[in-house]
Amino acid sequence: MDGNGRWAKARRLPRVAGHRAGVEAVRRVVEAAPDLGIEVLTLYAFSSENWKRPADEVSDLMGLLNHYIRSEVKDLHKNGVRLDFIGDWKALKPDLVKLLEDARTLTAGNEKLVLIMALNYGGQDEMVRAARALAAEAVAGTLDPAAITIDTLADRLDTAGLPPPDLVLRTSGEMRLSNFLLWQSAYAEFVATDTLWPDFDRAALAGAVAEFATRERRFGGR
Ligand code: IPE
Ligand code: MG
Repeated sequence: MDGNGRWAKARRLPRVAGHRAGVEAVRRVVEAAPDLGIEVLTLYAFSSENWKRPADEVSDLMGLLNHYIRSEVKDLHKNGVRLDFIGDWKALKPDLVKLLEDARTLTAGNEKLVLIMALNYGGQDEMVRAARALAAEAVAGTLDPAAITIDTLADRLDTAGLPPPDLVLRTSGEMRLSNFLLWQSAYAEFVATDTLWPDFDRAALAGAVAEFATRERRFGGR
């Protein structure tokens, strides 16, 4: 989800207004996703590198996250959405972690849509944490390093149990992964749109899915 700042700048508004409008786009997209056949939707909400932003912007983003979960969790639950999180989200402020844990517990049995929010997430950081877990098991003698496979590592990532993404979509015209799902995106189709995230809606998501449908996927085969 990129382009909140540019959206605000174009309207001579403070950046936080762009982030607020971005939350509205999240609402639209989460509502539209099941209708488009999307079963798992992962939103890159806050990266492990976003801490480099000025403290007031970090605080605005955390406040909006807090507000989004509080105001939306009942409706999400009613609509069959299972909320979960990837990233080092347990390192966030304790009151926020508690809120996230409660949302996760409440919605755990839902099956209409899996909504994953990437919070304090970085693909490299995720792989480092998985490597540490593997190393600890090897040291404890419960894992033979020679027996480590792609699946062994995948099972220690935050996304263990989730399918790899079919489509990775970036808004605002940028052509970078920015540390998003590095391992999991190995064969994802990449779609970039010039639309700024706060302008993103059901039609834009349908457009990205239509673009995805034109791709021929071979996964390295032929
Ligand atoms: C999305 O927009 C940001 C997050 C989800 C943290 P940006 O804040 O990166 O917007 P631009 O790139 O400045 O337009
Ligand atoms: Mg940006």
